[in-house]
Amino acid sequence: MSVWAGGGCSASGGWKKITIPSLLEKKRAGLRISAVTAYDFASARLVDEAGLDAVLVGDSLAMVMQGHESTLDVTMDEMLVYTRAVRRAVRRALLVADMPFGSYQVDEAEGVRNAIRFVKEAGAEAVKLEGGRERADLVRRIVGAQVPVMGHVGLTPQAVHRMGGYKVQGRTLEAVEVLRQDVRALAEAGCFAIVLEGVPREVAAILTAELSIPTIGIGAGPECDGQILVWHDMMGLTGSSPAKFVRRYADAGTLMRDALARYKRDVESGAFPSDAESYHMPLGAREELEAQNEAQPEVQA
Ligand code: KIV
Repeated sequence: MSVWAGGGCSASGGWKKITIPSLLEKKRAGLRISAVTAYDFASARLVDEAGLDAVLVGDSLAMVMQGHESTLDVTMDEMLVYTRAVRRAVRRALLVADMPFGSYQVDEAEGVRNAIRFVKEAGAEAVKLEGGRERADLVRRIVGAQVPVMGHVGLTPQAVHRMGGYKVQGRTLEAVEVLRQDVRALAEAGCFAIVLEGVPREVAAILTAELSIPTIGIGAGPECDGQILVWHDMMGLTGSSPAKFVRRYADAGTLMRDALARYKRDVESGAFPSDAESYHMPLGAREELEAQNEAQPEVQA
């Protein structure tokens, strides 16, 4: 088979694979980009079937899947496991893997090596990393190794200790100028898109207009070229009340809790499983078994 055959591009009008060029084309055409996180096979399959443009295996999984207090704990090897599971489900959407804390901050060669691991060992099509100007050289090297990079500025959760908490960034004119320099440096270094997280709407709108690559917002207002939400937030699967920018599109938590309560009740009352939910022996063998059983002498206590 020719490598030019590509995947999923159906001449009969079926689904079309989302690629880096097609995301750039969306920005040029003024079409918005839809993205969401996913961390496992089942949810990733739903995302892909729903036709979203991009799936991010975010390091937010440290919190929503593993129960850590921040994103800092998840390791490179763990991120690879989750990315592989998502890869098995995703056919159409662009699959982006998040580089975890510690996998690219120490030295650039290690960052490039880890970015390549996501592609080679887990089937990611791009990686995302946090930071601005200080990451430009690294982005250049990763892109030079043929791994597309998505930037991430504003509220960058891996910098939670430096920021002193999860705080909206870019609220002063000086801070806006810093953000502007950061996104410019990332775009010049070769990022194909930039996540703007926790940034005032007005600022995100200006940065989006100034950039030729798409911005993907989370808590950054509607003028971004696209939006991303964390799966557990949008599905109502997080215990705490969601942040202001989260819209809950489903109350899956309540749905699942109710299902579990009904299941427990049915198990305890004997209503589950029913006869229809049980397997049976073939008729002849069943009658023989019953006859045999009746012929058995009763066991004395
Ligand atoms: O890890 C993550 O889920 C993210 C998104 C919030 C952009 O980085």
